[in-house]
Amino acid sequence: MTEVVIQSDADAAATAATLLADRITRDPELVLGLATGSSPLHLYRALAERVTRDGIPMDRLRAFALDEYAGLDPEHPQSYLSTIRREAVEPLGLDPERVHVPDGSLERLPTAGERYEEAIALAGGVDVQILGIGTDGHIGFNEPGSSLASRTRIKTLTAQTRRDNARFFDSPEQVPTHCVTQGIGTILAAGHLLLFASGAHKADAVARAVEGPVSAGCPASAIQLHPRVTVFVDEAAASRLEHADYYRAAYEAKPAWQGL
Ligand code: F6R
Repeated sequence: MTEVVIQSDADAAATAATLLADRITRDPELVLGLATGSSPLHLYRALAERVTRDGIPMDRLRAFALDEYAGLDPEHPQSYLSTIRREAVEPLGLDPERVHVPDGSLERLPTAGERYEEAIALAGGVDVQILGIGTDGHIGFNEPGSSLASRTRIKTLTAQTRRDNARFFDSPEQVPTHCVTQGIGTILAAGHLLLFASGAHKADAVARAVEGPVSAGCPASAIQLHPRVTVFVDEAAASRLEHADYYRAAYEAKPAWQGL
């Protein structure tokens, strides 16, 4: 089922941090799927607070990032390896040896996807996957037209994605043109998907993902094929959802036994 939770960024982060803290306490060897970008940052901060406050054991967790730019020096501050280390590994106290990011180095690119899929399989698959959504409807960097059965591979970024991500670089030209990304099939194999979106600029993509037809034209619509998805949206990102009132009512009336 897809559950839509309409909350402010701070409340959504607290709700999701509680969910994750409970899961990790029950299973300290959980495999967590990490996203980069702005959307999961509130969650990482809220979870880091819970880790410090409640002493949640994080050192045995394994984690897999969704994607990495191709051809960007891994030590570049905007590489997803650097970003994941800075935003998640350090604040959450993860063991860097147990955190994986796709290999975007040009020499090893042809086998990067296959190697990443093997590493995920060896870990027993991803239990909980954190996701953002692109304004063009991508999840991971699965741009419109991506196969809904795709596995980790090289993709070309759309002009829209490169424009959206230019804010992280000194100039738009510096945004890499290619990436290695988990496929939609890879993402759908995770046990529970937590998707975060906020702001009016995400409203259209969110509506297409949650209520539109399942289509490669909006890769995020593939989440409708997954049995366990929680979509956290703020009011602005929820503004084009036709059934927003129903989602609000269903969340408020949710029986305690149902959990998230
Ligand atoms: C990041 C990723 C992307 C982002 C998406 C939204 O690892 O795979 O799908 O989640 O581009 O980015 P933000 O959160 O920066 O708006």
